[in-house]
Amino acid sequence: MSKCCINPSILSADFVNLQAELERISTADAVHVDVMDNHFVPNLTIGLPVVQRIQEVSALPLDAHLMISDADRWAPLYAELGLASVTFHVEASAAPIKLARDLRGRGAKAGMALRPATPVEPYLDMLSELDMLLIMTVEPGFGGQKFLDVTLPKIRRAAEAVRGSNLPLAIQVDGGISAATIERAAEAGANVFVAGSAVYGAGDPNEAISKLRHAAEA
Ligand code: DX5
Ligand code: ZN
Repeated sequence: MSKCCINPSILSADFVNLQAELERISTADAVHVDVMDNHFVPNLTIGLPVVQRIQEVSALPLDAHLMISDADRWAPLYAELGLASVTFHVEASAAPIKLARDLRGRGAKAGMALRPATPVEPYLDMLSELDMLLIMTVEPGFGGQKFLDVTLPKIRRAAEAVRGSNLPLAIQVDGGISAATIERAAEAGANVFVAGSAVYGAGDPNEAISKLRHAAEA
């Protein structure tokens, strides 16, 4: 297996000490920032002003995951902050190709996320418009949920399509990723792994990142 990325989710971090929490994951590849609007998902987190400050103080690139309605309107504003990647949910976009082009045009990598029950097949013709496909491995909205094995065949089909297309597309998985589940997701073809509770719930987050990396690359 080629090099993988471990992107800890700060959803499981201490929101009152975000700067210190960022410093505890210095060996990560990027910081996964979960934006929720209590509309697309039944939970509320942070918005543009806080993400902007995280971007200003973070030594690591930011990987924003927008679990928000009306992605066509809001996602470009996150790209405008200079984030490394901005991922919108296809279920929340009326014009995903236009939106992906807009994000790239503003200098961000374009990611598109699929809820567990959203099939990947309708989107295989637009892979060239994307830098990353996020296959959710739990229903979006909360950290600490159980990995849904039912999503494994979809990860496999997405990874096969990406290999067949010869595009440098990343396959990200998010939800329930731990030392116990990461091998299954990696074997199915994922190469970017988001982990919230498995990293911030550990005594030493960098040690947890290292364990996840070794398990994924095994
Ligand atoms: C859930 C978020 C995830 C969450 C993952 O909707 O998108 O990024 O933080 O948390 P764990 O790794 O605990 O499942
Ligand atoms: Zn996420």
